[in-house]
Parts: sequence; structure tokens; C-alpha cells
Amino acid sequence: KNRSPDDLRSPVCVVMGHVDTGKTKLLDKIRRTNVQEGEAGGITQQIGATYFPMDNLRNITERLNKDLSIDVKLPGLLVIDTPGHESFANLRHRGSSSANVAVLVVDIMHGLEQQTIESIKMLRAKRVPFVCAINKVDRCYGWQPLPGAPIRESLAQQPENVFSEFETRTQQVITQLMEQGLNAKLYYENKRFKQVVSLVPTSAHTGEGIPDLLMVLLTLTQRLMVEQLMFSPIMEATVLDVKKIEGVGTTVDVLLMNGKLRRGDTIVVAGMNGPIVTQIRALLTPQPAKEMRVKGEFVHHEELRAAMGVKIAAQNLEDAIAGTSMFLLTDDDDEDELKDAVMADVADIMGNVSVTGRGVSVQASTLGSLEALMEFLRTSDIPVASVQIGPVHKKDVSRASIMLEHEKEYACILAFDVKVTREAQEMAEDLGVRIFTADIIYHLFDHFTKYLEECKN
Ligand code: GTP
Ligand code: MG
Ligand code: NA
Repeated sequence: KNRSPDDLRSPVCVVMGHVDTGKTKLLDKIRRTNVQEGEAGGITQQIGATYFPMDNLRNITERLNKDLSIDVKLPGLLVIDTPGHESFANLRHRGSSSANVAVLVVDIMHGLEQQTIESIKMLRAKRVPFVCAINKVDRCYGWQPLPGAPIRESLAQQPENVFSEFETRTQQVITQLMEQGLNAKLYYENKRFKQVVSLVPTSAHTGEGIPDLLMVLLTLTQRLMVEQLMFSPIMEATVLDVKKIEGVGTTVDVLLMNGKLRRGDTIVVAGMNGPIVTQIRALLTPQPAKEMRVKGEFVHHEELRAAMGVKIAAQNLEDAIAGTSMFLLTDDDDEDELKDAVMADVADIMGNVSVTGRGVSVQASTLGSLEALMEFLRTSDIPVASVQIGPVHKKDVSRASIMLEHEKEYACILAFDVKVTREAQEMAEDLGVRIFTADIIYHLFDHFTKYLEECKN
């Protein structure tokens, strides 16, 4: 009941692949935005969400041959960008867990790389069907760009030596995929899309192949998954980010994967000081085809349906934790049960904190990045005394300073992508507590590793 093939929700598409293969750049090209150049170090370190209404996608795919065009009944597509850097396997897990379909991005110059293989394993384990974008085709030597063109038009006009390099490199990718147990073919030669992975050559710089990529994605989604995509009234959402917005107050960015949200609904989210139960004061979205992570004008809504990236304004969200589930509290629900459920993810991570209270302090902007830091420290055999999400305050420095009397080298705070208040900074200098900050996670690892080595000498 309540479900019908004429009432489909937007599918969630996750973009995965090795670092710097061009995932964000591909999305930038489709959105006509420039998110990638605004990222610290040009790397993605959190999950991004962009909703594309079907009209928008139809315009881009229009340039393809008619025989490929399909009657798409989907309202739109919610695309999730993930980090390719090895530290963020947890975010790739999260992204792939909520996905109905995926784009695996491979750099044609590099072929399959470590996180490509990791991504394939995740997608197969979760049975998420995917297409593979063979990106950066414009880097084939002597490439003649045909901006925005369907890939076959573009390939047809390449000089023979360029086409031959393209073919050799594509064949290498096919062979490497075979080594992973996957059959793959260029999408226009692929007649068995359920058994054989479709390859779509693309360039995020010239836009070539992007119409093809979207068309293949939509075809796959619609044909394979009408059953999965029938609208379900059960609300399912994840908190991606917690942000303070001028004039609005603290908001949470959530990924609404199923069901609906209405203004006035009561939600339950995890907080640093326990579960938060609050009422939705405003339901906002970015403009269509714009990313949630980027500042811009928001559109107000009374009600929103999945799948969608949604910004929620409500009271008491100041210490909400990003990277956890969000629940809806209705008259039929047991409030305590939901409160426990929402804190479960947090408890998992807090479980790795040393019970003896001996070790370093860790602070991060999201549960996802905190998890990445904890994993690094675990593999480096460094104990953790306390963890926090959010800015470094005096009380955090004070807590870290306890280690000065025990193991001096652990009297430090690893702070990723969070602010350090001036008072906290001053107090740390007075007491001799080291604060390591970085907005690129592996820089933080490097600084801290170097420091530990210096301590040994
Ligand atoms: P992470 O999120 O850090 O994993 O990287 P990513 O996969 O999102 O790659 P990103 O979009 O950051 O691109 C990495 C670099 O490759 C940037 O310098 C881009 O300009 C470049 N790049 C991306 N796509 C293309 C392409 O199609 N052609 C060429 N020549 N360069 C590209
Ligand atoms: Mg990226
Ligand atoms: Na990058």
C-alpha cells in the first residue's frame, strides 16, 4: 500500500573513485559551478549533495541520438560526491550505503588505483549497480576538444593516433576490471547492462561525454530499479553537516533518502551532550543543481520529498553531530527508543576512547572526520583520551593539560577542520599544550607523526 510505479522518488547516485580522478570536477561541469577550486588542497573531505531536477538533466542529455532517449518518470537525481582520499573510507562507506546507483570515476591516464578497487568492493558488497566514467580523455596526446559533445561525435573527429591512444588506454581499463572479476564494455557496445559494466569516456574539463554519462545513469536507474524507487513513506535521513548561518542560526544539512519532511515536524538527532529533540522551524534547499556545501540563496519549503539534500533550521542544534542518522518523532514512536538509536553511531566511535583517560585529545568537524582521525591513531598505536566535535575551547585545553603530568608528549589536541578560540590558543601556549590544526587531514597526520618522532629523540 502507498507504493506505486507512478509515484517514484528521486534516486540517490553516489560518485566514487580514487583521489583526483575528477569526481568533483565532473559535477562542477554539470552544475556549472566551481566547488573543486574552493576545496582545501583541491581534495574533497566530506560528503556533498546536489539535487538535479529532471528538466535540468533532460536538457543536458538532449544532444544525444534519439534512439538512446528514454521516457524517464523519475522526478530528479540526488548526486552525492565523496572523497577519494584513503583516509575517508568511512565516508565512502556511508555514501555507498545510501546509494541506489553509482558512478565509479577512473582517470584514463592512471587506470584502476587503490581506492578504485576499494570502491568496487564496497559497491559490489552493497549490490549497488554502477557505471564507470573513464575521465580525463582530453589528456590523450593531441586530443581535439569538442566542448560538451556526446562522446561518439568527439571520438569520430579525433586524429588516428589520438583515437588509438584512447583505445589502448580504454582496453587497459577493461583488462584491469576483468582482473577484479568484472566484465566491462564501452556503453554503446554494451547490450547486457545488467551483467556488463558500461564505460563512459568523459572529460570534466571539456564536458565531452557528460550527456552520455547522465543518459546511461538514468537508463540504468529507471530500468533496474523501479521497485526500489517506489516512494516509501518511511523517513530516512543522515546528518551531513552542522552549520551556523547568519540570520537563521544553527542548521543541519541532511540527506533525505526516503519519505517526507514537513515544517513543524519533530526530529531526533545525536548531540555531543546527548540526543536532541527539536521541531523543524524552516526547511530549506539550495537552488536546483547547486551544492549543499556552498554558500548561496536558499529556497523555503513547507514539505520536501526524498531524495533531497535539505537544510533544517531548528532550536538547540548547536552541538548536533554530523555523520549520524536523523529520525522523525511521530505520535506512534517511542521517544526513548529513538534517542538511543540516534546515539548508537556515536557510542561506536566513543568506544575506542581509552578508558584509562591516558592519551591525546581529538577534535573534528564531523563524526566522519573524527572517525578517520581515530582510525589513523589506532593504526599508529596512539591512545586517545578524549574526543569532541566542534571548536576547541578553553575547557578542551584544560582537559588535555592533564597529560602534562603523566605522558607529556600526549598533552596535545589534534584539531581537524575546526576553529580554535583565541582564549583556548592563549591558554594552550601558557600551559604547554600542543594544538595541531590542519584543514587537510593528511597534513595533520604528517605534522603529528613528525612531532612524535621528535619526542622520541
Ligand atoms: P577527491 O575529491 O580529492 O578525491 O578528487 P576528485 O576525484 O574530486 O578530483 P577533482 O575534481 O578534485 O580533480 C582533480 C584534478 O584533476 C583537478 O586538478 C582537476 O582540474 C583535474 N581534472 C579533473 N577532471 C579532469 C579532466 O577531465 N581533464 C583534465 N585534463 N583534468 C581533469
Ligand atoms: Mg572531489
Ligand atoms: Na581532488
